[in-house]
Amino acid sequence: MVFAMLLLLFLGASGAGISSDTLNKGGNITDGETLLSAGGSFTLGFFSPSTTVPTKRYLGIWFTASGTGAVLWVANRDTPLNSSSGVLVMSSRVGLRLLDGSGQTAWSSNTTGASASWAAQLLESGNLVVREQSSNASLWQSFDHPSNTLLPGMRFGRNLKTGLEWSLTSWRSKDDPATGDYRRVMDTRGLPDIFTWQGSAKNYRAGPWNGRWFSGITEIASYSGMFSVQVFVSPDEIFYVVTAMPGAPFSRLVLNDDGSVQRLAWDPATQIWNVWLRSPRDFCDNYAECGTFGLCNSATASTQFCRCIDGFSPASPSQWSMRETSGGCRRHTPLDCSKGTTTDGFMVLGGVKLPDTDNALVDMSATLAQCRARCLANCSCVAYAPADIRGGGGGSGCVMWMDDIVDVRYVDRGQDLYVRLAKSEFAARKKRGVVKILAPVVASVLALMVTAMYLVWICKLRDYTNTTLLQGPSRNNGSGKKVMIGLESTSNELGDEEDLELPFLSFRDVVSATNNFSDGNMLGRGGFGKVYKGMLPNNREVAIKRLGKGSRQGAEEFRNEVVLIAKLQHRNLVRLLGYCIQGDERLLIYEYLPNKSLDCFIFVLLYVCTNRSCK
Ligand SMILES: *[C@@H]1O[C@H](CO)[C@@H](O)[C@H](O)[C@H]1NC(C)=O
Ligand SMILES: *[C@@H]1O[C@H](CO)[C@@H](O)[C@H](O)[C@H]1NC(C)=O
Ligand SMILES: *[C@@H]1O[C@H](CO)[C@@H](O)[C@H](O)[C@H]1NC(C)=O
Repeated sequence: MVFAMLLLLFLGASGAGISSDTLNKGGNITDGETLLSAGGSFTLGFFSPSTTVPTKRYLGIWFTASGTGAVLWVANRDTPLNSSSGVLVMSSRVGLRLLDGSGQTAWSSNTTGASASWAAQLLESGNLVVREQSSNASLWQSFDHPSNTLLPGMRFGRNLKTGLEWSLTSWRSKDDPATGDYRRVMDTRGLPDIFTWQGSAKNYRAGPWNGRWFSGITEIASYSGMFSVQVFVSPDEIFYVVTAMPGAPFSRLVLNDDGSVQRLAWDPATQIWNVWLRSPRDFCDNYAECGTFGLCNSATASTQFCRCIDGFSPASPSQWSMRETSGGCRRHTPLDCSKGTTTDGFMVLGGVKLPDTDNALVDMSATLAQCRARCLANCSCVAYAPADIRGGGGGSGCVMWMDDIVDVRYVDRGQDLYVRLAKSEFAARKKRGVVKILAPVVASVLALMVTAMYLVWICKLRDYTNTTLLQGPSRNNGSGKKVMIGLESTSNELGDEEDLELPFLSFRDVVSATNNFSDGNMLGRGGFGKVYKGMLPNNREVAIKRLGKGSRQGAEEFRNEVVLIAKLQHRNLVRLLGYCIQGDERLLIYEYLPNKSLDCFIFVLLYVCTNRSCK
């Protein structure tokens, strides 16, 4: 009895196929049962995205670790089951078949070429394939029928022969997988480009493929160690594939129900999805926001995001000032082009996402010089650019835009676009350019001169105080009155020397600080006398100026002048710390600057104070 029950349980479990990744012919998966890919990364089963309408059941594939919060593919997105009695069967006529409770087909893989040996397998890439068991040839795969999610390894583009399109369609809302308003498709006219459409309107454009990335999503470059993005172009197919490098985290690209696109990467440590890329990323990513010949710059919020390309001005200034910029811009000066002759030239617009190439001619084999010549030769051509930037230099290949350009914006590491302008525009541009270049130059020269003059003044002042103090003629007017030097200082500014806390050092201290004025301590020699490095008893390093004996200044006069210098303290001047008078000796004690005074560094460049002691 027990044995029979165990056997039944065992049979039940294996029949349920819970741990299996394959659904063989005749097998089925009922609501509650799942297929699990070999490595366990992906799960196929029934789910309800909405907690408010839990009776609506869908068959889908999700990333096992994050559960049905991140459903990657939905089979019956527009035909939900109304109960949990749905069952997925492997039929030998149509392949996979989803039946509702009453046995009606809610969804079918429509695999053709009926065979009795079909099997469905959920691969570790997240792909559900129907294949011939004997030959292993894949007959149908979920990767060919994306929902709103693109996984690494999935194709995105179109098969030009069969008309099969690999595109994304948004959900209607966060909890409704029904076909929503937005579609993300690859446009194969011109250069391959990716568009988000809202109904019949272009909403966002990634930018033309330039061999390295889509012109407007230069962020891809920052994930170069984790993913490679490749575009494949053949007469039969044009598509792009993101390939994950070994060790890269699991990531998915989702077209959200609001039309935004996100690349999300799963962090197994924190169990959350990190947003790596988001588009549109700002105002300037809205398709054709600034109209034809407009240029969007997301860094100019203080003026206006939209402006016209040089040589153009708003078609309707009044609308433009109301921020209705979609009317675009008009050419100032008509092009000069008739019967094969032209005087027009090209202006380089650098660092941009290239315009929509729907109205462009592409020749991958032309050089840039040929491209320029061809554009000049066709009066409809208004701009050109290299089609492939991989080779470096100016790039290779040729894109030529006819009649107008639209949806241009600045992007980091953007490309060069050559815009055709009438000859007279270049003269006008040159004049503006000269002013633009000269203005900063003139400004910097002026600033330099003012700085130099200021420093010369400081220098002069210091020289003057030095010479006056240390060498200059005696200013004692005999009345014992204080004498002011150099500065037209008012008496109240200099007034009470009692305020001055300038220490008087004993000559004995100075002698011991400088090793009795040894030559080893000498820092320099000037007209005023010699300068020594000294170490005060409190271990403070100082510079000591010893006046030449030629200076015959009276003690009182010297003191007055010391007071004056002490008042001249400034953070860019060496600080006077004290003084000393002993007999004929007159000494000034300054703070010691191991790196010499700032002016010595500046004046090395300016050759103004070259004869000053800067040791
Ligand atoms: C599903 O398989 C079970 C046996 O495992 C079978 O009894 C049941 O009839 C099948 N359901 C369908 C709809 O094929
Ligand atoms: C399968 O074919 C039916 C009938 O032609 C069609 O209504 C249905 O949309 C197709 N299903 C898929 C997934 O293509
Ligand atoms: C310029 O190019 C357009 C688009 O290919 C073409 O239709 C037109 O004939 C060309 N004009 C000249 C003068 O070659």
